[in-house]
Amino acid sequence: MFKRRTDWTRRGGGRVRLSFEDQPIEALEGDTVAAAVLSSNPGFTRTTPVSGARRAPYCMMGVCFECLMQIDGVANQQACMVQVREGMVVRRQLGESPDEPGANSAPRAGGDHGAD
Ligand code: FES
Repeated sequence: MFKRRTDWTRRGGGRVRLSFEDQPIEALEGDTVAAAVLSSNPGFTRTTPVSGARRAPYCMMGVCFECLMQIDGVANQQACMVQVREGMVVRRQLGESPDEPGANSAPRAGGDHGAD
């Protein structure tokens, strides 16, 4: 679905290994977490708190907040604003932040505030 616009084997910089949902992925130094995860074709990277609708990074510039993921155990990280680091552990954010009551539980009845 997504592929790099440049030949990444020719681009300078080292490779970085991280994981997304316990699967190893590889990126280049300077990549954002969102770009690295999208290049692994994850399908979705979060679900909405109310309806459980699946979402993925959209704007890639810090505006839409569709890229929220758990990065190294910290929820609500804008993955398009975070650069990859060796050994990062990235997970989908399912529903609310795990720091909030009821987080990652079944979707609640009713609709989200945004469009689904
Ligand atoms: S993709 Fe829009 S804020 Fe990250």
